[in-house]
Amino acid sequence: MEWKKYYESNLTDAKEAVKLIKSGDFVVFSHAAGEPEVLINAMVDNASEYRDVTISHMVSMGKNEYVNEKYKDNFKYNGWFLSGGIRKALDEGRAEFTPVFFHEIPSLIRNGLFKVDVALVTVSKPDKHGFCSLGVSCDYTVQAVKKAKIVIAEVNDKMPYVYGDTVIHTSEIDKFVESSREIYESPVIPIREIEEEIGKNCASLIEDGSTLQLGIGGIPNAVLAQLKNKNHLGIHSEMISDGVVDLYEAGVIDCSEKTIDRGKMVVTFLMGTKKLYDFVDRNPMVEMRTVDYVNHPVVIAKSSKLICINSCMQVDFLGQIVADTIGIRQFSGVGGQVDFMRGAAMALDERAKAIIAMPSVAVKKDGRKISKIVPFIDQGAAVTTSRHDVDYVVTEYGIARLKGKSTKERARALIEIAHPQFKEELKVQFAERFKCEY
Ligand code: COA
Repeated sequence: MEWKKYYESNLTDAKEAVKLIKSGDFVVFSHAAGEPEVLINAMVDNASEYRDVTISHMVSMGKNEYVNEKYKDNFKYNGWFLSGGIRKALDEGRAEFTPVFFHEIPSLIRNGLFKVDVALVTVSKPDKHGFCSLGVSCDYTVQAVKKAKIVIAEVNDKMPYVYGDTVIHTSEIDKFVESSREIYESPVIPIREIEEEIGKNCASLIEDGSTLQLGIGGIPNAVLAQLKNKNHLGIHSEMISDGVVDLYEAGVIDCSEKTIDRGKMVVTFLMGTKKLYDFVDRNPMVEMRTVDYVNHPVVIAKSSKLICINSCMQVDFLGQIVADTIGIRQFSGVGGQVDFMRGAAMALDERAKAIIAMPSVAVKKDGRKISKIVPFIDQGAAVTTSRHDVDYVVTEYGIARLKGKSTKERARALIEIAHPQFKEELKVQFAERFKCEY
């Protein structure tokens, strides 16, 4: 019962806890649904006490007030992935972005290339042995806790207790702040007709017994919705959302044919609604592992019949994938896209498939359509997945398999699955680019 005494004597309120942050410190948050809102709000309220506190994290679901112009002398921001609130600050020169493969973050923290003085995290209530779960955010958060000089935890009674590397002991935490706010939710977006078609095309590539990785964005749920008639699917994925719960309950996902971590869904973070958070709570079927395990291409490569599905902004005639920038504008980050594309390419089981699934067009706010299949990527855009790693590209119009194809053959295969409105123009551009008829 010693841990209880330790817990009681270090229990404080958020206002007091954030006084442990000092000017010049590097502060890392648990991210996505694991964002410690109560601690972040208190830190922002205490802004006038700090100068040059650098903040880093991956996905953000909160208000991101720390990037506001008025806090420019108090906080600096250096993101590893960008979400809505931060993009504007980066555009306006008030934030920085560091490109990094998701699986590398724990090792960069370990070797000091990413500095962590203070870790702000959300945890579940401690169990009777004094262990808390980092719940929905395991990824780099575990390593941040281990490296930080000071760990401040928001102990939230709504945070699910998820098993795996995510379980840490109260003795690893310096200050506890109790809260009972709702965990951030990512609403389920209704599936439109285009996504339904993309989902069907992806489903046609998925065999019974496959192990799935599903990326971020609107496509994953559309794919899951098309898998109701499959059997013995498994999960080894950076993240999962609500669609996985439906398939588990329908008996489609049982992880029985996985070659690694058989019988378990292995993930590194969770982003969904309360339905997902209730499902993962003390569920031995779900194992959270750190991102340097889940996303390591060498680990991924050991999965049988691996299917990786990620999305993108643009693909050019060569098969270069732009997923995290729009022109010179940083939109998100590489996340785990290349980790999984590489893992699939290296897979011991040659039935592995790396899929980039996307609508054939992006629709701008004024209703204008833009083809996502282009002869050249936009000026200033960064290639996320190289033409050497790319394999299947899927739109609502079909499937283009690019591996083994020459550049001209790739361009033809991609034009075949482009939006009809752009096909003729793309064929003209093909003739110009390759100096031959389409
Ligand atoms: N040109 C201009 N704008 C484009 C565009 C293009 N070619 N393609 C998309 N856009 C715009 C959309 O119009 C939309 O704009 P809006 O926010 O104003 O509505 C925005 O970009 C996002 O597009 P959308 O299709 O809604 O994105 P999504 O939520 O499905 O996510 C990615 C797609 C590519 C952004 C997302 O998958 C990503 O960040 N990928 C990189 C990381 C990754 O793959 N991780 C995998 C493991 S989790």
